[in-house]
Amino acid sequence: MSAPNKSYDPVEVEALKPEAIDRARDEALAAIAAADSLDALREVKVAHSGDRSPLALANREIGALPPHAKADAGKRVGAARGAVGKALGQRQEELEAERDERVLVEEAVDVTLPHDRQPAGARHPLTTLMERIEDVFVAMGYEVAEGTEAETEWFNFDALNIGPDHPARTTQDTFFVAGASPQADGAKNAGKDAAEESGVVLRTHTSPVQARALLSRELPVYVICPGRVFRTDELDATHTPVFHQVELIAIDEGLTMADLKGTLDHMVRELFGADMSTRLRPSYFPFTEPSAEMDMVCYVCRGASVGDPQRPCRTCSSEGWIELGGCGMVNPRVLRACGVDPDQYSGFAFGFGIERMLMFRHNVEDMRDMVEGDVRFTRPFGTEI
Ligand code: PHE
Repeated sequence: MSAPNKSYDPVEVEALKPEAIDRARDEALAAIAAADSLDALREVKVAHSGDRSPLALANREIGALPPHAKADAGKRVGAARGAVGKALGQRQEELEAERDERVLVEEAVDVTLPHDRQPAGARHPLTTLMERIEDVFVAMGYEVAEGTEAETEWFNFDALNIGPDHPARTTQDTFFVAGASPQADGAKNAGKDAAEESGVVLRTHTSPVQARALLSRELPVYVICPGRVFRTDELDATHTPVFHQVELIAIDEGLTMADLKGTLDHMVRELFGADMSTRLRPSYFPFTEPSAEMDMVCYVCRGASVGDPQRPCRTCSSEGWIELGGCGMVNPRVLRACGVDPDQYSGFAFGFGIERMLMFRHNVEDMRDMVEGDVRFTRPFGTEI
C-alpha cells in the first residue's frame, strides 16, 4: 500500500482499525458457529481465514507499518486470527464427531446375522397360475386330478373319438414311446417303427383325463386337471414341445351348454377381473359335440381398440377378443366308451394352454423365457411359496 513512514499511524489504516479487526473476527466467529456441515465449514474457512480473508489482508498491511507501530497492530491482528483459528478447530472437531456418530448408526453392520443364508427361491409363474386356476374350481366343488404323462394311445385318442385316421395320430404331432409293449419287436420285424407300435405316447393334451376321470369315479364327476403335455414342435417364441394345459370336465344330469358358458365366464372373471366375459365360436373336436372355441375379452384393451385406429391393441390385433382354448359338450361316444349312459348324463369339457394365458396375462412375449429357468424371469412374479 505505502512505503514505511515514520509518521504512519496504524489506527489510521482502515484495515487495521481495532473496530475493523473486531468486526472481521466477530463475523468469522459467527460464520463458524453457523456452519452445520464439514463442507460448510470448509467454505467458512476459506472466506474468513484464507489468503484473501479480511484478517489475512490486515495482516499483510502490518509489514508496511513503521517499526514502533508494528507490535501493537501485530498483537491485535494476531489475537483475532488466533481466536478464529481456534474456533475453526473446535467446530471442525464437533462436526467430525457428529459425522462419525451418524456413520456409526447409518452404516452399522449387524455381524450377528447369519452369513450363509440362501436367497429365497420363487416358484415358477406357470405353477402359481395353475394353482390359482385350481383354486377357482376347487371353490366351485371340483376335484383336482392328475392323470399320467406317458399315456396309452387308447386314452389319448381312441377313448376321445379320435379315430386311427385322425391327423393328430400321426408322428407329426405325437411323441411315441419306444419299447413299452411286447408287440414292439414284432413290429420292427414287419418294417414298422417300434415306437409307433408300442401303444404308448406322451400325452398330446390333458383330455385323456376326461376318460380317466369317468372310469375311476362315481357320477356326477367334476374334475379339473392341470398338467404337462407334449407335441413335436420346435422351441420358438410361440411354441414349446413341452407345455401345460388345464382340462376341465363336468358330467351330471341335465348339464347344458349354458352351464359351460356360465362356468367359463366365472373363470375369466375370477382370473382377470369382474368386467370380463367369454364368447363361444363354433368349432370341431372329435370328443365334444357341439364344440366351440372359447374367446375372452382382450385382457389389455378390454375391447376398446375395436374400430378405433387411434388405439390399436397388439395383444388382440384390435379384435377385442383373445382365443383361450377349446370346449364343448362331451360327445356321447366318449361317454359310452367310458360306460356312462348318455341318455341320463351329459356334461361339458374345456381345455386351454397355460403358457398362452401367462403370455397375455403378464405380457410375456417369448415362450422360451418360460422354459429356460432363468431366475431373472421368475423373480419379478414375486416369491410366492
Ligand atoms: N384337448 C383340446 C386341445 O388340446 C382342447 C379341448 C379340451 C377341446 C376339451 C374341447 C374340450 O386342443
